[in-house]
Amino acid sequence: MISIIGAGKVGSDSAFNILRFRISDVVLIDIAEDLARGEALDMMQAAPAIEFDGRVKGTSSFSEMEGSEVVVVVAGAGRRPGMTRFDLMSVNSKIVKSVVKEVVRYAPQCKLMVVTNPVDIMTYIAYKESGFERNRVFGMGNILDTMRFRSYIATELGVSREDIRALVIGEHGDSMVPLVDYATVSGIPIKDLLEKEQIEKIVNLTKTSGADVIKLKGTTKYAPAVVIAIIVDAVLRGRNRVMSVSTLLKGEYGFSDISIGVPVILGKNGVERILELKLSSEAKKQFMRSASIIKCMINRLRNASKKHQ
Ligand code: NAI
Repeated sequence: MISIIGAGKVGSDSAFNILRFRISDVVLIDIAEDLARGEALDMMQAAPAIEFDGRVKGTSSFSEMEGSEVVVVVAGAGRRPGMTRFDLMSVNSKIVKSVVKEVVRYAPQCKLMVVTNPVDIMTYIAYKESGFERNRVFGMGNILDTMRFRSYIATELGVSREDIRALVIGEHGDSMVPLVDYATVSGIPIKDLLEKEQIEKIVNLTKTSGADVIKLKGTTKYAPAVVIAIIVDAVLRGRNRVMSVSTLLKGEYGFSDISIGVPVILGKNGVERILELKLSSEAKKQFMRSASIIKCMINRLRNASKKHQ
């Protein structure tokens, strides 16, 4: 069984994907109890049509997550007009801290997946607040970026998206690093198939892809929700999939005490292993910039909370 905390747009759509892909039963928790219950009821009414037997329970009671193998934290606000990125970070860090306390209380053995933005910072907060081993706390961001990267490569080449393999590392945000050197089409490096200008266009589209959706409809939902289901599947079934997640570094890539997206093996214990790649000097430079942006945000948040103590 898994639990999702936050029954908003992304949380409820993730729950539905987990059910219809027949991955697990789901407990959907939100402080807005009617929303959680209503979403669950709506999903169950779809079950006969697509014939899934899984169950979903909508509730505002955190104790219902007891025994969950995976808990997904997707509670929190999106950025509203007039809100700075820092305002959003302050609001969501309080929410994440409060729900992580409940996770520790009711599902102390779980793997904890953080989705709330800014996800690298929220993952760091969840790690610190939970006291869990670092392998059990990770954030979803770069896998979504990778899906977008793959999708744009496929479109540019006019080939099946299934044949594209790629990685994005770094912050889930403007400073992300799509790794061109590791992007292939059925093993063929994209550098052999695309011109420099085409690759630049793809990289730029990947970086702005989330913001492009938000500009049009105010939020993203389908892509993150499907990625959450895929990660839950990788962990529950111990599939040892190779993906980028935000995880706490302890010296890997030359950084410590920071959560940032890097490739890992994702399995039964969460992050089974961090994979340290050889990066080109340009990619290394970009990754360092990304890490320093995250570090800076963590420090700002830390200083602001000290001031309020
Ligand atoms: P939403 O506003 O539709 O839903 C958020 C839900 O959280 C609301 O239903 C609210 O009642 C609930 N909530 C707030 N405080 C809570 C608490 N203390 N306990 C339980 N529930 C609580 O927002 P949406 O669109 O679902 O996005 C949620 C978060 O996910 C945002 O921070 C968003 O930026 C982030 N996100 C992250 C992505 C990623 O790739 N990491 C992708 C898409 C969204």
